Amino acid sequence: MSTVEFSNVSKAFPGGAGKAVDDFNLKIASGEFVSFLGPSGCGKTTSLRMLAGLERNTSGRILIDGVVVAEPESRLFVPPEKRHVGMVFQSYAVWPHMSVFENVAYPLKISKRPKAEIAQRVTEMLAVVELSGLEQRMPSQLSGGQQQRVALARGLVMQPKVLLLDEPLSNLDAKLREKMRVDIRAIQQKLGLTVVYVTHDQVEANTMSDRIVIMRAGHIVQTGTPDEIRRAPVDAFVADFIR
Ligand SMILES: Nc1ncnc2c1ncn2[C@@H]1O[C@H](COP(=O)(O)OP(=O)(O)O)[C@@H](O)[C@H]1O
Ligand SMILES: [Mg+2]
Repeated sequence: MSTVEFSNVSKAFPGGAGKAVDDFNLKIASGEFVSFLGPSGCGKTTSLRMLAGLERNTSGRILIDGVVVAEPESRLFVPPEKRHVGMVFQSYAVWPHMSVFENVAYPLKISKRPKAEIAQRVTEMLAVVELSGLEQRMPSQLSGGQQQRVALARGLVMQPKVLLLDEPLSNLDAKLREKMRVDIRAIQQKLGLTVVYVTHDQVEANTMSDRIVIMRAGHIVQTGTPDEIRRAPVDAFVADFIR
């Protein structure tokens, strides 16, 4: 279980017009499920990628579990593999030439864990995402939802401090999306995970999150529980967006 903190974090891309993320401030509690919600281009993915270490913030600082992982002012940058975050992306991002087992085992193999431990962890994670028994299947033999579960198991197999998900359900049909929402929330609760979830879908954010961060043009417009935001949107943009 881990906390996350963004403190005055900004990101200007070289040659970009203005800042993609501008003075982002947020504290996330351990075991909290927080969604970044906002229209396309508002800076959700960039914020998530800065937390993962896949993008460098140009100012401010980011902390995971109270430890600074990125602070350009003091030239401090912890690389992604040392941040202990798990990531799941929109596209299935499973390797087509590897079996389910091999896909989930991959991060453990890279970090040279013993075979017995790998087998045990993969078995555990496949049980969590309800894919037990499908170890030897290839991704082409799985549905879209099952492929996304493989990606989820792979994101969890290293026991990350924080799990980051970037629009992981966008490619699924409506019915499956609904089931996966419930399942991801259940897994988060069961494992006590700290989750940052990126979405442009207000229903997703409302049904899954402890707290929602509403973003617009690189800024945080409002932060609150789904209920708080629904009852007291700070402006017309928020009211319209969460309607
Ligand atoms: N690699 C990049 N280089 C330049 N501009 C980028 C890059 N990635 C994102 N941007 C810009 O940053 C802004 C925020 O993008 P992004 O974080 O992807 O938004 P979202 O995920 O909310 O759709 C957009 O204006 C986008 O065009
Ligand atoms: Mg995005």
